Amino acid sequence: MSKDVKDYINIIGSRLGKAFAIDSFGTEEELEFWALSAEHMSRKQNPTFQNIITWIDLLYQAPVHFVYKLEKEHLILIKRQLISENLLPDKSGGGKPGKVDAQRTQFIQDFENQMQNLEKKRQWDEDFKEHGVSAHTIGNCEHIPLYKKTGEFWGIYVIGPNIKSPENMVPKFSIVSRLLSSWLIKLDEQEKESQKEYQDKVHGLVGELGIGALNTTGISELLLLYIINSLQAKSGAVVEYKNGAPVLIASNSLDEQYLKALLGLSGEKMYDLAENDFSLSEAGKEIVNKLDVEPLFLPYISEEVKGFIWINRTERNEAKDSSPVLNDISEIVAKLFEFRDVNKSFSDDLLDAFYKMLRAIEAKREKTKYHSPRMIAFVEMFGMLFGLDNNEMEIIKTTAKLHDIGYVGAAGISSLASIGSELAHPIAGATMISNLPVHNDIIEGIRTHHEWVNGKGTPNEIRGEDIPWTGKIISVYEFVVDFFESNPEVAPEKEEEMLEKLKSSLIERADVQFDMVLIPTVIQQLTMLGWSGCAQLGVE
Ligand SMILES: [Fe+2]
Ligand SMILES: [Fe+2]
Repeated sequence: MSKDVKDYINIIGSRLGKAFAIDSFGTEEELEFWALSAEHMSRKQNPTFQNIITWIDLLYQAPVHFVYKLEKEHLILIKRQLISENLLPDKSGGGKPGKVDAQRTQFIQDFENQMQNLEKKRQWDEDFKEHGVSAHTIGNCEHIPLYKKTGEFWGIYVIGPNIKSPENMVPKFSIVSRLLSSWLIKLDEQEKESQKEYQDKVHGLVGELGIGALNTTGISELLLLYIINSLQAKSGAVVEYKNGAPVLIASNSLDEQYLKALLGLSGEKMYDLAENDFSLSEAGKEIVNKLDVEPLFLPYISEEVKGFIWINRTERNEAKDSSPVLNDISEIVAKLFEFRDVNKSFSDDLLDAFYKMLRAIEAKREKTKYHSPRMIAFVEMFGMLFGLDNNEMEIIKTTAKLHDIGYVGAAGISSLASIGSELAHPIAGATMISNLPVHNDIIEGIRTHHEWVNGKGTPNEIRGEDIPWTGKIISVYEFVVDFFESNPEVAPEKEEEMLEKLKSSLIERADVQFDMVLIPTVIQQLTMLGWSGCAQLGVE
């Protein structure tokens, strides 16, 4: 800053001090503090939270800066910032620097951990309206009350812990509180506005991406029913031969004996497929004679797909059998299945590409370098311990792979540091794949993986009964994996203690954040793997 500007600001600062009846500036820092207040006030742009912290830090070197906002009887933590340098005053000079540094790092890491596991809500208490000291999970903190212009209580600024305000600050807290109130309330409003804008943008970007997942079974049923009714037949089925084996796609009113015969469930198949042609097998002939049916057999055969529509009726009808509509139907069934296969393979390719893009984003930060592979490895092992079947295992692994895919959508809009992305990535992710042929539990698992069973999660604040099993499992492992990512270097003698800490956090959060049914298996898994096993799991 040039000297002229600084002088000017100092003059404003001292005028401001007089205006607020502050008789004198005690120290150099205090002068700078008021000068900076004046600077922020004279600007059109509201100071950012970081600006505000830098400002407060001039006078009050506390490690923790929390902003709680009053909402429905609760104080909700809406902002937090940790200044690690203020945590332990640097005792430089003398001693063994290496050892002191390691201790200091450990201390800071422990503290940061405590910060991560903080409850985001505090019970509302009338005392908060008064400036004073209160016991906080992290130690005793001072809280500065914040008020709207109308005089209504809005929230508190918590600062601390265990550091007393400078003597000359307390008398000035009312003016500090007024400045903080006006800046923080405006900031909160601006952010709410920009979050809404962000959500709209995400929706605008990914809302129209769908290529359409056709309901193959539904369309087959519709076509089948049309034929049955127009021929006044009894029942029927659409069967596809995949790798030579018959698979049922759709059926209507079909007796079990026909179904078994068509699918070859009790021995021989009713129809053999050889060289792109179907023929009635010996067993098939027997059944037809025995049951006295005159089935209508409509094959569909193309390069990629093979199968037939089978209609059960007792009488032949030459005129109706040669109806061109029947040909059209078998042709369209072939095309439908071809499209299904192409769609599936395109969708798999698209999801792989999304995954690669996500991995590139994750790789940018040391902390998240192995995030998704770790999630996949953890849920796979969980699935084995919990006893998921093959189908469920595929679903949960895919959910783990894609759970943060919304960051890819978000990256198209703004940098990842943007405030909206944490909140919006489950919505963006679910929307991005909602029209692809993937299981609904995967899509809904992505949408809900940051929800809490008590309804206090994000983004939709839905409760346990509305969160699908996939969302619940991913939610636990998002927490577990984050714990290991946040503690990359733990001394061997500390490992046991850290693992216990993780387990007790999980137990504490059972029925609050996580579904308690899952917790025993998760704890069993952590115990089996031990700290280093967990830390290594999924790391390529
Ligand atoms: Fe996530
Ligand atoms: Fe994640």
